[in-house]
Parts: sequence; structure tokens; C-alpha cells
Amino acid sequence: MKTLVVFYSMTGMTKEIAVHISEKLDCDIEEIFDVKTRKGILGFIKSGFESVFRIMPKIKETGLNPENYGLIIIGTPVWAGNMASPVRTYLFQNNEKLDKVAFFCTMQGNDNKKIFLEMERVSESEPLACLALTDSEIKQEKHIKKVKEFIKKIKDSGKR
Ligand SMILES: Cc1cc2nc3c(=O)[nH]c(=O)nc-3n(C[C@H](O)[C@H](O)[C@H](O)COP(=O)(O)O)c2cc1C
Repeated sequence: MKTLVVFYSMTGMTKEIAVHISEKLDCDIEEIFDVKTRKGILGFIKSGFESVFRIMPKIKETGLNPENYGLIIIGTPVWAGNMASPVRTYLFQNNEKLDKVAFFCTMQGNDNKKIFLEMERVSESEPLACLALTDSEIKQEKHIKKVKEFIKKIKDSGKR
């Protein structure tokens, strides 16, 4: 299955996992970029606000067409218990172009209950697999086993 990993990352955690997954699958990868900066405390507040109120900020045009892929793996940091707002924009703009999907998120705590349901709702696609990782798991390299299981679950569900 031709696969694309799409992600947004502000401080590098989600990027680290996205790169790791794309290397394991030897597949294409695409980063979502903001149009406007999120630097500083105002950027932090704006980011949390956008996530809580489901605001969709402008994102830079992406280069790879998801229609050309059988599977899109989408990664986001958790912001205020929800997906990062630029990921919401991407999913909303591309939901008609998505075939199969899988989701992953990175977070400081364990606040990921509604995030995958919300990603499913906006993408209008039920995920083959979901993976939630904490920053401390990533720093301690505990994510490696979990990513392996995530990839296995995706591959197994593709066989059905
Ligand atoms: C605006 C903002 C809101 C956040 N809200 C949460 C949260 O509600 N729960 C949580 O566990 N982590 C939260 N975090 C922490 C990030 O989800 C976490 O550090 C993540 O791994 C960062 O990913 P990145 O490095 O790819 O940007 C928040 C971070 C930011 C910047």
C-alpha cells in the first residue's frame, strides 16, 4: 500500500515519530507548516485557544497529493486535549482525498481520550490504528516498541 506520513510539529516530538515511522515504512513524508508564527507565550495561548474552539488556521500549501496514496498516517501534538489546529485544517481540506488512515499523537500527559475520535470525525475516516506517545516515553526511547506494534496493526488490518 503506497503510504504517506503527514504531520505537524511545533517543538520536534511529533516530527521525531513521523520520521521514525516513515523510515520504518520507507514511505513519503510531508510536514504541515503554519502561515503565521506561533512563537512565544502569545503563540502558545493562540494555539490552545484555536484547539479548544476548533479554529482552522491557514496552513502553507502541501506538496504531496493524498489522493495518490492508499494510506495516510497523520500525526499531531496534543493541544489543550485536542489535535493541533493546523492538523484540523489539513484534515478538513483533504478529507475527500483520504483513503485509509491511521493516527498518532504526542503529548506531555495522558490526555488523549477524545483526540482520535475528533480526528476520525474531521477526516471522515475510521483509522486502521492509533498510537499515543508521551514526551517522556519518546525521550526514554520507549516509543520504539509501540511504533512497531502500531505498524504491525496497520499492516494486519490491510490484509483483511
Ligand atoms: C499550546 C499547547 C497545548 C498543549 N496542551 C497539551 C495537553 O492538553 N495535554 C498534553 O498532554 N500535552 C499538551 N501539550 C504538550 C504537547 O502535546 C507535547 O509536548 C507534544 O509532544 C509536542 O509535540 P511537538 O514537539 O511535535 O510540537 C501542549 C503543548 C502546546 C504547545
